[in-house]
Amino acid sequence: MGERRPLIAGNWKMHGLRQEGLALAAAVAGKADAYQSARGPLHLDLLVCPPATLLREVSKTLAGSIVSMGGQDCHALENGAHTGDVSASMLKDAGCSHVIVGHSERRTDHRETDDKVKAKAAAAHACDLTAIICVGETREERDRGEAMAIVGSQLVGSLPDGATAENTVIAYEPVWAIGTGLVATVEDVAEAHAEVRVGLTKISSDSDAMRILYGGSVKPGNAAGLMELEDVDGGLVGGASLEVDDFWAIAETCL
Ligand code: 13P
Repeated sequence: MGERRPLIAGNWKMHGLRQEGLALAAAVAGKADAYQSARGPLHLDLLVCPPATLLREVSKTLAGSIVSMGGQDCHALENGAHTGDVSASMLKDAGCSHVIVGHSERRTDHRETDDKVKAKAAAAHACDLTAIICVGETREERDRGEAMAIVGSQLVGSLPDGATAENTVIAYEPVWAIGTGLVATVEDVAEAHAEVRVGLTKISSDSDAMRILYGGSVKPGNAAGLMELEDVDGGLVGGASLEVDDFWAIAETCL
């Protein structure tokens, strides 16, 4: 970890009805508050990304806490006839500070291209939301030796003009490591994050300060080895973010 302030983000994906979602948000805020009361300021940013149905109430639950809230996707347009979609301004209105764009599940399930991801990230920026832009290769691409080329081209294709360390976070999430329990080796992660850092130097003047998160089967047992890597500035956590003790244990590896 370099000078950059770590960010641990929980992507709840399509999990959580009202009662359990609000309890989870309250528990995460409670852990952060308890830490701060006992040990002083938390040198870490914490974010939860609940399903859209829970945003408004989670925002109320998190009021006064240092835990921020993000959406899991946004439409590229501000409003219009787009049934089922949610715009960046709606997320902002519901209390979000962040939004994940270009997650591999969106790229696969909804055929989102780099161009579309870039437009979504630009829409997020226009609404003063920090875009967490996801990139990552499939198993087949890695096996063909194309992982770094794919990550590099997704990065160039998905970052809008004007991306800064303030309004953008990159998440490297190898598709084959998501939800599989197959975490990438520290060598693979170090290589990919270094590649992203170099790629960023070509497209943003803020490349040194921009945070790069790792995502893909991050668990309490493997987080420390990942978080100590030079260009790993935190994690985008799926399954383990649904258990407050696991999520907090991962966060603690950054403290
Ligand atoms: P898992 O931690 O469940 O592998 O999910 C990672 C992820 O996709 C976070 O966005």
